[in-house]
Amino acid sequence: MRMSRASAPIIAGLSAGLAAAGLTVIAGLAGLADPRLAVPVFAVVAPIVAAVWDARRFVGRVDIPRLERRIDAVARKVDRQGGQAIAVASLAGRHEYPLRFGNAWALSGDTAVVLVQEMLRLRPRLVMEVGSGVSTVLVASELERLGSGRIVSFEHEPDWVLDTQRHLAAAGLSEVATVTVAPLSVQQVDGRSYQWYTLPADMPAPGSVDLLIVDGPPQSVDVAGSPRYPALPLLEHLLSERAVVFVDDGDRRGEQQMVDAWLATRPAWTKRTVDTVKGTIILERRAGGLGR
Ligand SMILES: C[S@@+](CC[C@H](N)C(=O)[O-])C[C@H]1O[C@@H](n2cnc3c(N)ncnc32)[C@H](O)[C@@H]1O
Repeated sequence: MRMSRASAPIIAGLSAGLAAAGLTVIAGLAGLADPRLAVPVFAVVAPIVAAVWDARRFVGRVDIPRLERRIDAVARKVDRQGGQAIAVASLAGRHEYPLRFGNAWALSGDTAVVLVQEMLRLRPRLVMEVGSGVSTVLVASELERLGSGRIVSFEHEPDWVLDTQRHLAAAGLSEVATVTVAPLSVQQVDGRSYQWYTLPADMPAPGSVDLLIVDGPPQSVDVAGSPRYPALPLLEHLLSERAVVFVDDGDRRGEQQMVDAWLATRPAWTKRTVDTVKGTIILERRAGGLGR
């Protein structure tokens, strides 16, 4: 007779309980235990064995490799989040004005550290940014510390421009940074239409931008797409030979597809990804076309 799935744990529990009770009676007869313990032994052993037997069904169904991957992913997230405090602390001594890194919109602390490291390597004369905020104040502050350089930042939300300008003024950095309202408009780029920044006529000179920060427009403009795609096609002519393109939110599929599409038609460019809370992708031209 085959046991049904439901009765198997009960039968296993009863068998184990009876066996344990029987052993207790035998031990009692041999003078090794109190035979009256047989009943409590049965009452304890039977349900435990039934429960363990039943649990095996669920354990058998768990996809252990998948569970391990999930645990790994959560551990990495916790690790990166833990690194935020250290990242922010490492910037705290550099800049006098306090900055709120790491909310849903702003650069995360570890991305800010990577950005500052790139600036120290590059010593950019001109930084251009699409998508203003905490990053604008951070870059302006770092430029002031370096003793030269300016940032021009474009932002579509007028209120957000004012907010960023207020912080720049409070930090005494208005001379170093210009934040300009650039309303979004429909633009055709590489055969597709995008809602992207309407840039002013008086843009910086071609070849003058050493660092381009791509952190806008927000993903909500095109949730399933790559709303930031126009940045490189439309601004590339402004970049110097040694320019770096700094892409935030590099963990998102939209940003990854955007970067891959950029590189597909630009063999001279190379990418580097940095493991930060939101993912960072850094692009630059290979030195002499051969790579670093
Ligand atoms: C990813 S955010 C840009 C963040 C900016 N680079 C920074 O580090 O703070 C993209 C856009 O979201 C909008 N935004 C930024 N912070 C916001 C906030 N706290 N609340 C609502 N919108 C915000 C702005 O329009 C901004 O250009």
